Order: sequence, then structure tokens, then C-alpha cells
Amino acid sequence: MRAPRLCILSRGPQLYSTRRLMNEADAAGMIVEIVDPLETSLVLDDRNGQVIYQGWPLDADAVIPRIGYSVTTEGVRVVRQFERMGVYVANCADAILRSRDKLTASQILSQKGVPVPKTALVTSWKDVERAISRVGGVPCIVKTSQGTQGDGVFLVRSIRQAKEMAYRLIAERKTVLVQEYIKESHGKDIRVIVVGGEIVAAMRRVSNGREFRSNFHLGGRVEQIDLPEDYAKVAVDAANHLGIDVGGVDLLEGRTGPILLEVNSSPGLEGIEKASGVNVAGHIIEMISKRHKIQSVNLDEIVRRRTGFGTITVVLNTWPQFIGRSISEVVPPDTNVVTIIRGKENIWSPDNELILQPNDQIVLYGPLESMRSHIEGNDEPSAALS
Ligand SMILES: Nc1ncnc2c1ncn2[C@@H]1O[C@H](COP(=O)(O)OP(=O)(O)O)[C@@H](O)[C@H]1O
Ligand SMILES: [Mg+2]
Repeated sequence: MRAPRLCILSRGPQLYSTRRLMNEADAAGMIVEIVDPLETSLVLDDRNGQVIYQGWPLDADAVIPRIGYSVTTEGVRVVRQFERMGVYVANCADAILRSRDKLTASQILSQKGVPVPKTALVTSWKDVERAISRVGGVPCIVKTSQGTQGDGVFLVRSIRQAKEMAYRLIAERKTVLVQEYIKESHGKDIRVIVVGGEIVAAMRRVSNGREFRSNFHLGGRVEQIDLPEDYAKVAVDAANHLGIDVGGVDLLEGRTGPILLEVNSSPGLEGIEKASGVNVAGHIIEMISKRHKIQSVNLDEIVRRRTGFGTITVVLNTWPQFIGRSISEVVPPDTNVVTIIRGKENIWSPDNELILQPNDQIVLYGPLESMRSHIEGNDEPSAALS
């Protein structure tokens, strides 16, 4: 068996995290190359395409993207190209983008039942006062959706101050969020490293002096902790819902338990390895050496491979005539029942005799036009138009 080839996408070969990953991969018998994503070029062709570096196509079995915020666009397109080539990436392009935008991440996570601070998007300073009352009044947090290392995050104590701040940020064309201030967590938060769906390490970060932000880069310090179970669950759920294989999950310590703040797709390793004494880089490499041989797929692309075919969902509250009937009575011909969403559960490839219940959602795959007309009770597609 040949040694697996690992490509670390990083602009800083000398950085602690990059060096640690490189050394652990080396110790695990991998062949490691550190590649600056800004020095690559991409070739798209009628096969899988290539990533070219220093004149040669890169040959990798796995990729670790360590993409800084300032080069998100450039980095993510290299990651996406590797995915297209069937190379395992930790993390995938969509997961990086989902986690990097605080609003996008919160939209996904709040919908999945992960506790997040009450947050409002404001597009004009005129919305600010209403947004503040929706999130629970002042003091509150005003932040940009795409900031990092604490810049772009402000604690405001009056409506007027919030309006001024929002006005300024909107003028800079930033996406501005007004957020509930979790005061119990003032100046501290918990960073959890989740690798392959498991907790690997955790620490508390405490800010410097009266600063309310606990970011390491603002001079905060780190403390060792034993992670309570409810915190562990929220961290794993958040990484999972965003599709993050390697993540630094930030949690605030709210009055009633953990509140998810953000998930970082290229977590720094220095603070956490020192605070926890855990070989985090080693865990990441171990996960990759197991996972790179089995690819995950983008189901959405597979579903759209055939022209005219796709998925639809039938929400039984809209079609109450189907309640109490079996799947075989309801489903159109040439259609696959992918899953039934029932409460928080999915029933995959359900039995044809399964009886439909109120609030069920049936997810169907098949020819779109005929599925729609069948559901509408029109077996003649043109009848719907006449
Ligand atoms: N809603 C909030 N309530 C209390 N503290 C917060 C809140 N939002 C941010 N903070 C503090 O500010 C820090 C930075 O905020 P965060 O949203 O993580 O932005 P960044 O991406 O710049 O790190 C957090 O680590 C936390 O200490
Ligand atoms: Mg943060």
C-alpha cells in the first residue's frame, strides 16, 4: 500500500498549527505537502479537473484547508476543486462557507434546535431600535456577520450608540447583526474542538481586564475545564449540522446552559493543545487517515443528474386527504419515497404499507412534472393549465 498523500492548504508553513499537523501526519507515515492556495491554479476539463501547483498537478488523497478569513473566496474554490476530484477534504467547501458567515450558521442551527443568542439582521439604522427590542433591549451586541478575532464585535449600552454603530457598519457594506447580550458569559467563553463528530479537547477562554470579548488574539488567557455533558452535546450537534469534520466550536455560558456562538473551520491549535494537554493535531490526522478512503457525496447533485427528475416534499398538513392512507395509495407511479420526516425522526425508504400521519412530510424522488400533477389529482399534466 502506498503512503497516503496529505495536502495542507495554508499560507503559513511556519505557523504552530500548520507545523503540528505536518509533524503528526509525518509521524503517521503520510507524505505531506504544504500548499499556499493563492499559488495554485485550477484546470476544469471534461474529466475531474486538476489543481496545479508550481507547474505540476497536485496528487493528494486528503486535504486539510487552513484558510484565513481574508482569502476565503480563493481558498474555498481550491477546496471545491479537490472535492470534485474525489479527494477527501476536512472541511468541505460548503461547510467552510456555512460556518464562516455568522448569520448563515445561526439560521441553520436555530432551525435544528441548537441554542443560539437571539439575533436580528438589520439593513438600515432605522431598523435598529425595533431589532433591539426583539432581542431583549440594551445592553446588546452589534456585530458583523463575517468578522473574526473579535474585530467587528461591539457591546453597546444605548439605543443611540447601537444606531451609530449600525449606521457606520452598513455604510461599509457590512452585514450587521444585533444580538442578545449573554451577560452571564461576559469576558469568557468555551472553545471545544470537535473532530469527526467527537469531542477531542475543550478549554475556557477568559478575556483580559474589562474586555467583554474573550478572543485569544485580544490578549485573553486560557483555562483547563472538564466539559459538562450538555456543552458537549451542543458542540457536536453544531459541527454536525454545519457539516464540519474539524471544528472549533465556541459556546457561551448562559444562565440556563450552553449557547452556541460560532464554529471555526480552521481552529488554532496552540492555545487548546497547551491548555488541555491533548494532542489535537494527532486526533485530526488519525480521523483523516480513517476517513479519506471513504468519500461522502453531495446528494443534491446526484438527485439533479437526470433532466426533469428531482425531489419534492408533500406536507400532509397541506394535503389532509392523504392522512390515514398508506404510502402505496398516495405515491405517484415511477416515484421513490426517499424518506418520511416525522417529528424529529426520518423514516428512510419506508414500507409501502406505512400509514401517513398528520404533520408527516413525504420526500419523493422521481419525474417532477408527473409527480406534481399526480399529487394535484391531475394525471393529465396539461389539465392543470386549462
Ligand atoms: N451575544 C454575546 N453575548 C456575550 N458575549 C459575546 C456575544 N457575542 C460575542 N461575545 C464575545 O465576543 C467574542 C467575539 O465574538 P464572536 O461572535 O465569536 O466574533 P469573532 O468571530 O470575531 O470571534 C466572543 O468570544 C465572546 O467573548
Ligand atoms: Mg469567535
